Amino acid sequence: MLKARILGTGYDVPEDVLSNADLEKMVQTSDDWIVSRTGISYRRIACNGTATSDLAYRASRSALEEAGIAPQELDLIIVATMTPDMPMPAAACLLQHLLGASKAAAFDINAACTGFIYALATAESFLLSSKKYNHILVVGAEVLSRVVDFTDRNTCVLFGDGAGAVVLGKGEGENGILATYLGADGTGSGLLTIPAGGSRSPASQETLAQRMHYMQMQGSEVFKFAVKSIPECAARVLEEADLSTEDVDYLVMHQANIRILQAAAKKLSIPWEKVLVNIGNYGNISAASIPLVLAEAVDHKKFKTGDILLLVGFGAGLTTGASLVRWGR
Ligand code: UT7
Repeated sequence: MLKARILGTGYDVPEDVLSNADLEKMVQTSDDWIVSRTGISYRRIACNGTATSDLAYRASRSALEEAGIAPQELDLIIVATMTPDMPMPAAACLLQHLLGASKAAAFDINAACTGFIYALATAESFLLSSKKYNHILVVGAEVLSRVVDFTDRNTCVLFGDGAGAVVLGKGEGENGILATYLGADGTGSGLLTIPAGGSRSPASQETLAQRMHYMQMQGSEVFKFAVKSIPECAARVLEEADLSTEDVDYLVMHQANIRILQAAAKKLSIPWEKVLVNIGNYGNISAASIPLVLAEAVDHKKFKTGDILLLVGFGAGLTTGASLVRWGR
């Protein structure tokens, strides 16, 4: 059967490191609280002048090189991000220009921290439904430090910047994307927001003074949603592919909080050794977190052909999604 396949992965993170000790000087917090409540020790922060498409570009170059695909061979570029360089044009168009991928169509997807899973599912649909699409670049990239309020200890300790990319192709056979699920529950849309800067509350002196251009989150509610939704999403894709949790070789979840990852793995009865974790070094990078942890694992030669990877995302919206992949080209 025809399947969409991951041909190459890549990632990029800024050089500057923000440690818990640095944050202790900025807000009333402690290394002990941050590590024990979130699992995060460091995050990377993009320097002034660096934007989402710059990180996306470097991650994409690595993914294209690994895939052995030239930018001119790309038919479509999808960037999952909630922090594009600017509201218009799409970061994907800026990336298309940087890459010189002149034949590729390009657009962004905003499904917050589930963005990469949404983009992957969209790319899969393009590949499987049309002969016009053979190679698609899917990127998750964020410069969240621009929308983080560094006076708010509830959020500023959590987020970082980075990008991850995959090149997708298609082919007959066993390997590739086996099943996909996407979900949304807009009743929870108020739990994680950037209230101003859009059409409801456009930028004004008042919105700036009220710090409404920064992320605001009801953390414990989002936490509960995540722990509940990860096993639900996982069950849907496993059922579709007629597999069980015992068949899963690696669980690749959005890196939001180590306690969420631990609780979800426990609920799924998937041993901790099978869970990919890099939150300690990068924090929560929203749409970039899944492709980044995936690309790092590829660099460490973790996967072998035939391994079953269960990718699960969750985030603002509230959105959820999962993708089940049999590894191999
Ligand atoms: O990626 C998108 C999805 N996002 C998520 O999945 C995030 C989900 N939520 C979380 O990860 C957790 O809810 C947080 C890490 C955000 C917060 O952890 P928590 O265990 O839920 O803490 P809490 O919000 O219930 O706060 C407990 C206490 C509060 O103090 P009081 O009211 O009990 O006196 C907070 O003010 O911890 C306090 N607190 C802090 N203390 C030191 C909150 N942030 C900090 C901090 N340092 N940075």
